[in-house]
Amino acid sequence: MLASLLALTSPITSPTIAAAQSYSWLAYGDFRGQFEPCGCDPKTDLGGVQRLAGFAQRERALNPEVSFFDLGNNIAPPGAEGDRATQEIKDQYILEALVRINPAAMLPGRFELLRAKWFGEAWGRLKSQSKAGGPLPYVLSNIKDASAPKWLKETARSYIKTNGMAVFGFTWDKSLSPFLLPANSSAGIKRFKILVGNEELKGLHRILLFSGPDDQLKALLKMNLFDEVIASNRASDAAKPDQPDRVNEARAIVRMTSARGERVLQTQLGGQGVLRGGAARRAEAKPLDVLFSSSKTSPGITALLSSKPISWLERDSLNPDVWRGFFAAYEGALKDSFGERAKVRLADLANTPYAGSQACKGCHGQAYDVWLKSKHSNAFQDLIAKGKNHDAECVGCHVLGGSEKGGFVSQEASPQFMNVQCENCHGPRKEHAINPAVKPTWRPAGDDFSKICVGCHHPPHSPEFNYKAYWGKITHGPMKD
Ligand code: HEC
Ligand code: HEC
Ligand code: HEC
Ligand code: HEC
Repeated sequence: MLASLLALTSPITSPTIAAAQSYSWLAYGDFRGQFEPCGCDPKTDLGGVQRLAGFAQRERALNPEVSFFDLGNNIAPPGAEGDRATQEIKDQYILEALVRINPAAMLPGRFELLRAKWFGEAWGRLKSQSKAGGPLPYVLSNIKDASAPKWLKETARSYIKTNGMAVFGFTWDKSLSPFLLPANSSAGIKRFKILVGNEELKGLHRILLFSGPDDQLKALLKMNLFDEVIASNRASDAAKPDQPDRVNEARAIVRMTSARGERVLQTQLGGQGVLRGGAARRAEAKPLDVLFSSSKTSPGITALLSSKPISWLERDSLNPDVWRGFFAAYEGALKDSFGERAKVRLADLANTPYAGSQACKGCHGQAYDVWLKSKHSNAFQDLIAKGKNHDAECVGCHVLGGSEKGGFVSQEASPQFMNVQCENCHGPRKEHAINPAVKPTWRPAGDDFSKICVGCHHPPHSPEFNYKAYWGKITHGPMKD
């Protein structure tokens, strides 16, 4: 345990001069609405815009020539769960942060395009405030002009020249077909042949930024037009945008390491690291067919995973001096929104179905003692310690009834509902606590308590979760297998 902790918290290798010369671009993306890592477990404490900001600053100091590429899918997928107002604040600030990081090229990924209406408005707000409002380096080469959103037509270019490279962009999702050209169509092939063949781009290193399903990636690779392809993730099922929490699956970067792409290097990234590119890593690369022959979860993919070209955005990479005002404004916006939410929820407290653990103490002493010694009884204090007790996203899993009527409202209004309590697992029990003859009717579906646990204990918040082992730490009643 200690050894793995040490390995995880060791600082990212600081880039040496040699390292600086071995790449010419740095790519990141796929934040999926995650502004900062939750920090629930050290193993998944990676990523976040603050660490990226510090990283970018340091890299530019070492290598002013380096180009940053943003792969998109940085806002939450459409239909993402959680408190909407909180998520929109996070998405808006992510956008502003990315503009400040000032990449050479940005791909509008599927999530930006699937949430085109929100994205267009958010971009409008940013421009109107703006120091950040200059022309955006959006690149999207497969726009079918007719019905594309206005902001996209106004901002996206079909290629961008930077630092000896010509950068193209491709995004695909079936539902976006009214305004995007697929790669596996004659019109798509023709578009790319013409673009890449442009005289103006002769001699430049050709790079494609990609977001979409595998069949499109395959079609693009077959065109043999690009020196490198950087793909934002590998999920092929566009209808079901990847679950944002599944950090260890389906998020990958594909890099072609020889000219015209017989070989690829694949590695996970998912908003948690920055990929370095520009120099061939032939030895690490695998034949192209391996990439497509294996399913998402098969060992084939694991075999391809490599962390070598990645700088993970670990806790140590945090520079608290970067953009202080910006991060203070972000926390302020979350706090204001939390206050608004509390006002709305306050009225429900009068009719709460919850009693709180104190009310159980007298009759269930043993269970109470076990609970008091467990981390559940301290879950809210841990948020306070991190200054995150006003972030609705965190609060939900660290309190009683955070998104239910009559559940936790705020530290001030409902201190009895702070922390994870008896009723998180046993259901509302106010009536039972007053009169135990009231047999509570609530049980988890199929009497399966593990389903209750994984509502909170799932990656990245609890990557080690195992029902038997975890229940073993808090046992206080008969366990049914
Ligand atoms: C006044 C005493 C009293 C209080 C207060 C009380 N209980 Fe109970 N509880 C009982 C008794 C007695 C039983 C056994 C009832 C039975 O099986 O008929 C019981 C049974 C249970 C059971 C097992 C059966 C079931 O319903 O699943 C759970 C779980 C439970 N209580 C949880 C709680 C929680 C949580 C609280 C606090 C919110 C609480 N109780 C408060 C007396 C109490
Ligand atoms: C409402 C969300 C929630 C539910 C439901 C939940 N937990 Fe937890 N659990 C947490 C949080 C939050 C923590 C960490 C608290 C802290 O340290 O700040 C935690 C911590 C734990 C720990 C301590 C881990 C350690 O390494 O010491 C154990 C054990 C645990 N939970 C077991 C369970 C089991 C078993 C279930 C289901 C029967 C369950 N939890 C259900 C939120 C939840
Ligand atoms: C989906 C539910 C969920 C959300 C959302 C969540 N947490 Fe947690 N958190 C947990 C669970 C479960 C644990 C216990 C993990 C374990 O021990 O396996 C935990 C543990 C923690 C711990 C204790 C770590 C330690 O070292 O003991 C801290 C601190 C924490 N979370 C902070 C946060 C913050 C900050 C956020 C918001 C950015 C957040 N959590 C969002 C479920 C959640
Ligand atoms: C993290 C989830 C969790 C928390 C928190 C929790 N329990 Fe339980 N409790 C369980 C599980 C799981 C069982 C075993 C139920 C089973 O196997 O039927 C259980 C069993 C019990 C039982 C015995 C039930 C029976 O059928 O005999 C009682 C009583 C009980 N809990 C009371 C409490 C009280 C009181 C608290 C708070 C002080 C509490 N529990 C906190 C999950 C939890």
